[in-house]
Amino acid sequence: MSKSFDVVVIGGGPGGYIAAIRAAQLGFSTACIDDWKNEKGGPAPGGTCTNVGCIPSKALLQSSENYEHAGHGFAEHGIEVKGLSLNLPQMLARKDAVVKQNNDGILYLFKKNKITFFHGRGAFAKGDANGYEIRVTGTAEETIVGKHIIVATGSSPRELPGTAFDEKMILSNTGALAISPVPKRLGVIGAGVIGLEMGSVWRRLGAEVTVLEALPAFLGAVDEQIAKEAHKLFVKQGLAIQLGVKIGAITPNKKEVTVEYVDSKGIAQKAVFDKLVVSIGRVPNTTGLNVESVGLKLDERGFVGVDGDCKTNLPNVWAVGDVVRGPMLAHKAEEEGVAVAERIAGQHGHVNFNTIPWVIYTSPEIAWVGKTEQQLKADGVAYRAGTFPFMANGRARALGDTSGMVKFLADAKSDEILGVHIVGPMASELISEAVVAMEFRASSEDIARICHAHPSLSEATKEAALAVDKRSLNF
Ligand code: FAD
Ligand code: NAI
Repeated sequence: MSKSFDVVVIGGGPGGYIAAIRAAQLGFSTACIDDWKNEKGGPAPGGTCTNVGCIPSKALLQSSENYEHAGHGFAEHGIEVKGLSLNLPQMLARKDAVVKQNNDGILYLFKKNKITFFHGRGAFAKGDANGYEIRVTGTAEETIVGKHIIVATGSSPRELPGTAFDEKMILSNTGALAISPVPKRLGVIGAGVIGLEMGSVWRRLGAEVTVLEALPAFLGAVDEQIAKEAHKLFVKQGLAIQLGVKIGAITPNKKEVTVEYVDSKGIAQKAVFDKLVVSIGRVPNTTGLNVESVGLKLDERGFVGVDGDCKTNLPNVWAVGDVVRGPMLAHKAEEEGVAVAERIAGQHGHVNFNTIPWVIYTSPEIAWVGKTEQQLKADGVAYRAGTFPFMANGRARALGDTSGMVKFLADAKSDEILGVHIVGPMASELISEAVVAMEFRASSEDIARICHAHPSLSEATKEAALAVDKRSLNF
């Protein structure tokens, strides 16, 4: 007799494991299947995010920033560091330990919530609205049945055609998080989120980093004014960013990788790197799911097709996270996972796509929520803008981190906040205030009239809100 569950979740990343926890909280018997293995072959739940994404990248960003501060930033504070050296194996080991703490935390949460965990790959075998058989292969080998199935199989790095990842010379995010020793010359193809975060890590640790981007505009999805400011700061830090390039042949040998490309002026170029990171986006993980056996439909780009409620074309089959449309972000995956579990319980789970924040964890950080100025212009929306530079913020001066600004965009008539964009220190934390404000449909005046602690970076948020009405106090 196969084991039966109310809810079977395929994939144990932030979309899947959070959906499983919420389903269990709601009283459903719940199973989660995940195939990620640690170096000993044991389970390592948490998906891309925990193993080769959000968590290890932030660990290395922190470590490399500490190293850069010790080397270049502390002297201004009167702290002189002599004989500074980099222990890269220790830095990488710390990153691995942080990942393991998160893997173990998720295994603990499965136990705590009485979720049955299967370490292996899940694939549809057969089924209908009365229940679906899922074949598990790997460490666990059995067939289980779920009344409801949540597909949360995530995404994988996109390869450049003809250039497979070998994780030695041509690196995806996985290899980019484990380079040793620090390469002298690091090439990065794609000036997106991974390219900028990983490029920053290795530049801080001593690599000469060249980023080659196909599009003519830098960070096209980001508010233009913010993107321009960020570009200026990154170039000043030493990231060589080339926009509008067309990548040609990529030829690796055992020691180096040669990249031929045409630059924005149409001139053929050749660059030689010790390692090459390819970060040109990600593709959904659906191969091996055996979707044909039950008739689960994929969309034209290979994502599992879902409606606004994460319902697929099949009754009681849902899909969340990177494997469906929308931004590939861990918190988006989690919100969808929670909402689906609640919908299965007959509740009205909801995800507001307009208030999903984005953060790029460079230094300074870039964070935003809502519409950009270029989107408002394209939509013909009348708006008022207010900006405030961190240069005029007392806490930023005390921190010694005064680059960047906060920018508010508010509806010209109602003053409702339509977007908030930040480049600057702790932007990842500051953006939460804007998200809360937008969820409650606050006006810029609401933020401008709220008392913010002094001295704090959040005063820059208040001041930018005041600037919408041209009445900043400190600038
Ligand atoms: P995943 O995390 O990819 O998890 C899917 C899981 O399902 C994996 O364990 C996979 O092995 C497993 N799986 C796949 N198929 C099967 C199957 N058939 N059977 C069983 N298991 C299966 N997002 C942020 O919000 N903030 C960040 O700072 C951030 N940093 C990132 C840094 C990097 C370098 C990368 C690559 C990504 C980053 N992301 C970040 C994006 C984030 O990692 C993803 O959006 C998030 O992991 C998506 O969650 P998910 O649950 O949909 O999928
Ligand atoms: P991305 O979509 O952020 O950036 C890819 C970049 O590569 C784009 O600028 C694109 O124009 C460029 N590109 C595409 N094809 C190219 C080519 N042939 N030649 C040169 N440039 C090319 O994708 P990335 O950086 O791979 O990250 C994938 C996703 O992972 C992100 O979109 C994001 O959803 C998630 N992520 C989130 C993070 C965060 O929240 N802080 C951190 C890292 C990843």
